[in-house]
Amino acid sequence: MRSLYCGEVNESHVGQEVTLCGWVNRRRDLGAVIFLDLRDREGVVQVVYDPDLPDVLEKANTLRNEFCVQVKGKVRARPEGQINKDMATGAIEVLGLELTILNKAAPLPLDSNQTNSEEQRLKYRYLDLRRPEMTERLRFRAKVTSAVRASLESQGFLDIETPILTAATPEGARDYLVPSRTHKGQFFALPQSPQLFKQLLMMSGMERYYQIVKCFRDEDLRADRQPEFTQIDIETSFMSSDQVMAVTETMIRELFQQLLNVDLGEFPRMPYSEAMARFGSDKPDLRNPLEIVDIADIAKDVEFKVFSGPANDKQGRVAVICVPGGAAKFSRKGIDELTKYVGIYGAKGMPWLKVNDIEAGLEGLQSPILKFLNQDAVDALLARTQAKTGDIIFFGADSYNVVSESLGALRLKVGEDLELLQGDWKPLWVVDFPMFEEVDGQMHAIHHPFTAPTNLTAEQLAANPAGALSDAYDMVLNGCELGGGSVRIHDQAMQATVFRILGISDQEAQEKFGFLLEALQYGAPPHAGLAFGLDRLVMLMTGASSIRDVMAFPKTTTAACPLTNAPGQANPAQLSELGIACLATKAESQE
Ligand code: AMO
Ligand code: AMP
Repeated sequence: MRSLYCGEVNESHVGQEVTLCGWVNRRRDLGAVIFLDLRDREGVVQVVYDPDLPDVLEKANTLRNEFCVQVKGKVRARPEGQINKDMATGAIEVLGLELTILNKAAPLPLDSNQTNSEEQRLKYRYLDLRRPEMTERLRFRAKVTSAVRASLESQGFLDIETPILTAATPEGARDYLVPSRTHKGQFFALPQSPQLFKQLLMMSGMERYYQIVKCFRDEDLRADRQPEFTQIDIETSFMSSDQVMAVTETMIRELFQQLLNVDLGEFPRMPYSEAMARFGSDKPDLRNPLEIVDIADIAKDVEFKVFSGPANDKQGRVAVICVPGGAAKFSRKGIDELTKYVGIYGAKGMPWLKVNDIEAGLEGLQSPILKFLNQDAVDALLARTQAKTGDIIFFGADSYNVVSESLGALRLKVGEDLELLQGDWKPLWVVDFPMFEEVDGQMHAIHHPFTAPTNLTAEQLAANPAGALSDAYDMVLNGCELGGGSVRIHDQAMQATVFRILGISDQEAQEKFGFLLEALQYGAPPHAGLAFGLDRLVMLMTGASSIRDVMAFPKTTTAACPLTNAPGQANPAQLSELGIACLATKAESQE
């Protein structure tokens, strides 16, 4: 129906007849002439209808925004004064010779000046996606998947599909369940990731697997989390963690080079303990120059119990962030707001100290806790933080986790509020994670239960699980966890040991992962892998502020789809076929 896209018409077509199809972006009626901005996927071009063809002009007069039309016309150069430099096709226009209205459009339920609520945008997602900005993001996403496939396939990776109707996978979120009709009262789980299947594929000898695959997790949603999202999932045999990191780092570097013309350089590596110590996060944003500085040794002997308590406690942490030039930027009210903010992360207060004049000794300092600090402590603090006149120091004193998390969050907020971020792209690998974290006396896997420890036998691991590091790695970009992976356990005794440490009984392990444990008996190769969050990758690369903006049909933050009204009620016949009775309706569950 078309000879070329609207956005492709240019000066080389002057004098030619073209057939265009698209939507009326805007119609300007200047009485004698009508100008149309005609839009399709590739851009917008100006079409002119003039009185030389009165029938066509009359028809053009009936057009309204978003009518779908076919236009035949002749390309001509615009007169000198009418060239639009802001428009890709601004040097030419199309003189309309014929016009076919392919479909009319009712006034759109979305406001074209973009003041629409997200709910409304999702309800009319197909219209929201007509916005060039949205189209561009989906186009970019397609380029990313295409480049990823090319890169991995050139390195011998095979694209292999894994089941969506499956058994539970332990990635730490709740499962989405699907009832089985043929096995009443039983359920499939949708995969939180293809983790177990990709390991089984290594046991089948596939060597290098990849898949661009949907994963499903029922968890609290945020800007970078959706209940169904896409992973670039990778698994390899006979590769060390260094090799997996090299392969995947190269892929990401090439992607940025090809699609954004950005050289990410070599990614630095940082142990988890250093990331927590300096940035209070396992996904530090290295564009932010603020760092957490430990002062427990300085705070140990001060009279202020809030400091000396955690400073003398093995599980405690006392630390500060010094914000250069921050003294004038934070009023009492501003500090109160920040104190409330760190409260979200468990901080019970947030002492501060303003360095009004570093030369003036204690006189030059201003702080609600100055009275509790002795001269030596103050001197040591100022020396450690290298504070200067005009700086403000914020304190955290509590358990290690509370201080790390609250100062980590404070660092990000202050960095953003004061626009301190430096550089565009700061990738890194976070490595040397602990194998386990203890919550209420129970060990949990930091990665997942199939992750191998670094350089430990099963006996050594059993003897000191709390001190064990895992052979796992996360790729972090600008404070966002892009991907994570690990060397897997390929030894049955080690796997059984890890299950035991996690408090998974032999019986439970058999029930849930018996097939994996058995597969480990038949010559399982050493294997390792990683999965990237494709949506997050595209979000970062396109500068979108939410992964919803890089998904064609995302869900709301309450995991619903306003477009299709899913989730919805099943009809009674369907339910009885499945052997299911509902205890609560939507209305009741919201009461
Ligand atoms: P993990 O659970 O770390 O590892 O997930 C890998 C990557 O997937 C992305 N991601 C998400 N993106 C959007 N919405 C979500 N709800 C969501 N959850 C995770 C993140 C994350 O880094 N099987 C292991 C990988 C492996 O060991 O090979 C896994 O799934 O970018
Ligand atoms: P106060 O002596 O209660 O006025 O507290 C002095 C400073 O210490 C204030 O800035 C409080 O925010 C802070 N503070 C008090 N209690 C705690 C606490 N448990 N943890 C962290 N900071 C605290």
